[in-house]
Amino acid sequence: MRDYKNDFGVYDTHPDLVYLDTTATALKPKSVVEAVARFSTEEYANIHRGAYDLSEASEIRYEQSKKDTAHLINAESSAEIVYTYNSTYALNYLALALRRAGRLARWDRILLSVAEHHANVVPWHILAEDLGIELVFVDIDEEYDIDYDDFARKYDARVKVVALTAVSNVTGKIFSLEKIRPMIGADTLFVVDASQAVPNYAFDVQSIDCDFAFFTAHKLYAETGLGILYGRERLLRELPPAFGGGGAINWVHEERYMPAGLPYRHEPGTPHIIGAVSLSAAISYLDSIGGYDTIAAAKKPLVERALERLESFPYAVELIGPRAVEGRAGVLSHVVPGVHLADLAEFLAERDICVRVGHHCAEPLMRFRGVAGALRASIGIYSTLSDIDRFYDALEQGIKTLG
Ligand SMILES: Cc1ncc(COP(=O)(O)O)c(C=O)c1O
Repeated sequence: MRDYKNDFGVYDTHPDLVYLDTTATALKPKSVVEAVARFSTEEYANIHRGAYDLSEASEIRYEQSKKDTAHLINAESSAEIVYTYNSTYALNYLALALRRAGRLARWDRILLSVAEHHANVVPWHILAEDLGIELVFVDIDEEYDIDYDDFARKYDARVKVVALTAVSNVTGKIFSLEKIRPMIGADTLFVVDASQAVPNYAFDVQSIDCDFAFFTAHKLYAETGLGILYGRERLLRELPPAFGGGGAINWVHEERYMPAGLPYRHEPGTPHIIGAVSLSAAISYLDSIGGYDTIAAAKKPLVERALERLESFPYAVELIGPRAVEGRAGVLSHVVPGVHLADLAEFLAERDICVRVGHHCAEPLMRFRGVAGALRASIGIYSTLSDIDRFYDALEQGIKTLG
């Protein structure tokens, strides 16, 4: 089996690193770092407004990045791809634009699941505060999927937006979102948080039949600072821009302005051109290793090993997430009784093992499960069986020492 660690420069400088925090952010492949350096030194300039070669070269790269992203998620065209700064910013932008469009009014409801990341909760809370709309949370079932009976009970004519994650960043469960569209009205907006989906499997906006989706490039082996908002072309066209400025207009007079065409009306100011180039390079990297099939094949034995280790683990450590290999991402969140999670994370860090502890920006889920926090280990393409074993060996020692 190929050792993907060779593709990531951090292992040259930190050969003993056990990086199990990919759900927070993915390490960067050498090919992405090199593509960014090459672009920055050979082709970089501002886009849209330059007639000179460098500006044109940059513009071609930026447009190509949009096409690559559209292709990655099976959008109909790159006009449906808006670049923002991260997932959080993408949804805040959408929520504001929906508000400006008058799509939501007092007493309307937004349906979410209890497993949402705060990025898919707080922007809606802000709308609720301002507009008097209501947020309604759907439960998850024993398999950690959406509880579709609870969904059917809570969905009614007042629900104007259904906003669900495709994959929980705590449980790793891949929700069966293809079930949602047939359960909701054609005019209910279906918004998907694809932040943990796009790094893990071929997330397809058309087969899910969603209206909007958003994700963040840094979890997909690209740079930080680039978020992606997908929207159906018709809807993006109808949405008034939430922010305005240069680059997003056709013309500006003293009295009024004319927004630009799609997708630029939603991208005021200079975009993250370098981030866009890094996303193209990250998508090329994925293609070069065999795409999502390779990601799934690499993940399987690691999740199997983790579940095996947990079967015979000498302490009462519980998983918040399915004890199954299929239908999940490589995210393993552990409830560890009797030990301070921060001390445990420190203990692991002293042994070069990077994990994350806390509520993982998913407090509604923690409350639903009745726990304060969890220790999350999450894998990337560079993770190995030895990483998993070192993690569980150290976890055992840590509990013994600190418990
Ligand atoms: C499911 C999910 N949604 C949204 C986000 C927010 O991503 P960002 O911090 O890049 O905006 C994360 C990040 O952990 C996530 O896991």
